[in-house]
Amino acid sequence: MYFILSIGTLLVTVTGLSINAGYDEYNSGYLVAQPTIKKESSKDKQDLSKIPGIAGHDYPIYHKVPETRFSCEHVPALPGMYANVETGCQAYHVCHDGREGEQGSKFLCSNGTLFNQKEFACDWWYNVDCREAPKLYELNLDPKKNPYFQKPKEENKQEQAAGEEVEQYIKIFV
Ligand SMILES: *[C@@H]1O[C@H](CO)[C@@H](O)[C@H](O)[C@H]1NC(C)=O
Repeated sequence: MYFILSIGTLLVTVTGLSINAGYDEYNSGYLVAQPTIKKESSKDKQDLSKIPGIAGHDYPIYHKVPETRFSCEHVPALPGMYANVETGCQAYHVCHDGREGEQGSKFLCSNGTLFNQKEFACDWWYNVDCREAPKLYELNLDPKKNPYFQKPKEENKQEQAAGEEVEQYIKIFV
């Protein structure tokens, strides 16, 4: 009788322990699973102090291309690359067949750089005179400058006649 009782006590004790242990495990598991707030801002923040000039003053610091009135409808050549003057030239557009809408594909140069319409590339802000960009849009007609060059828009019909000549031109310069 005593033997049976002690086994019973033991069982209760063991069961009690295991329940307890389970509870503790659950508890600590819960604590571990607490949502951790990632501090992404510190990772995303670029060290702008390495860039000469004052951020947001000497050069824009857009996070994404903002809403602007830029339109591909009046550009001299398709496909082509065009600086967006409203963003201080940090944004540029690749205008092509209209698939991407009226503004083409939009891109941002990294902070401290602007789209250099003369070079068709992002360049340090102090090398770029953004206000001059629209005057240089016509460089898109130049197959040596425009990396997307196909055929100048207005000359399409004439060029169809002189098609072979143009093809040779492309072979040389692209
Ligand atoms: C420029 O810097 C700002 C401020 O740090 C940041 O929010 C933005 O994402 C950066 N832009 C680019 C294109 O990296």
